[in-house]
Amino acid sequence: MPACSSGIVRSNKKVGPDLWEMEFTALALAREAQPGQFVHIRVGGNQDPLLRRPLSIYDVDAGLITLLYKVVGRGTEILSLYSSDQPLDVMGPLGKGFSLVQDRRVLLVGGGVGIAPLLFLGRELKVRNNKVIVLHGAGSKEETCSGPKFTGLGMEYRIATMDGSLGFKGLVTDLMEREIDPKSIDYIYTCGPEPMMEAVAAFAARNNMPGELSLEEYMACGVGACLGCARKLKASDPSYVKICHDGPVFPLDSVNIAP
Ligand SMILES: Cc1cc2nc3c(=O)[nH]c(=O)nc-3n(C[C@H](O)[C@H](O)[C@H](O)COP(=O)(O)OP(=O)(O)OC[C@H]3O[C@@H](n4cnc5c(N)ncnc54)[C@H](O)[C@@H]3O)c2cc1C
Ligand code: FES
Repeated sequence: MPACSSGIVRSNKKVGPDLWEMEFTALALAREAQPGQFVHIRVGGNQDPLLRRPLSIYDVDAGLITLLYKVVGRGTEILSLYSSDQPLDVMGPLGKGFSLVQDRRVLLVGGGVGIAPLLFLGRELKVRNNKVIVLHGAGSKEETCSGPKFTGLGMEYRIATMDGSLGFKGLVTDLMEREIDPKSIDYIYTCGPEPMMEAVAAFAARNNMPGELSLEEYMACGVGACLGCARKLKASDPSYVKICHDGPVFPLDSVNIAP
């Protein structure tokens, strides 16, 4: 069962175009959270919107949980209006998170707000004596607020922006192909748009590298009870998985790999 169903907002601030960072306290949730897990939030004070909204756990530090979210619709718009000391109806931690390797050379590849689960992951990987390189793909430099958080934890952070306003100009997967020597990496983790993750999975498969990815799907219950998030990982798979309960983290080679 999830550890917690209430929190208190400590801060909620805009950190980029349509990008917000919320900190809240929820002690049991903070104690039990694992990188790659998510929280399910009822936004607003009544039944409208009816469904909770799933968000990855961006970071956990000293009992404080941080979320990084993009305002894309009504639910996240309402969330952006929360202020300090306001109660937060939050369920979690939910789902199966990333496995945590030790003493390895690790590559994290995040696309857009898919960078969110990789910060908490990187924090825990550093504790386990891993060398961590982070590649982050964003639209422009205004969307790269998380960079200093990764470097502050001792990770190497490289950025690709589509408009070339910071770092490499173009796709983060082109940056990966260009700058990452596969022989220097033991394990890959990725989260972001599926075409990006498929390109990461193809890179890993070509180079015989293990890894994991985190998938997003529309969710209702968030706990495996409603089939709202059921999907096949590969078109040829005989059965469906529930992203909220069996995932959201899966092995890299479990999704379709782009040719
Ligand atoms: C496990 C998990 C972790 C997530 N972590 C984060 C995170 O850390 N930060 C973040 O910004 N977002 C994250 N998301 C996506 C986030 O849940 C949705 O953006 C949010 O629920 C949208 O709610 P809304 O009411 O604002 O938008 P809606 O009005 O519901 O939808 C607005 C637009 O967003 C699209 N959309 C809505 N929900 C999803 C979804 N689950 N997957 C793909 N597209 C969707 C819709 O198609 C529509 O185009 C995560 C999703 C999952 C399943
Ligand atoms: S959202 Fe209900 S089973 Fe996953």
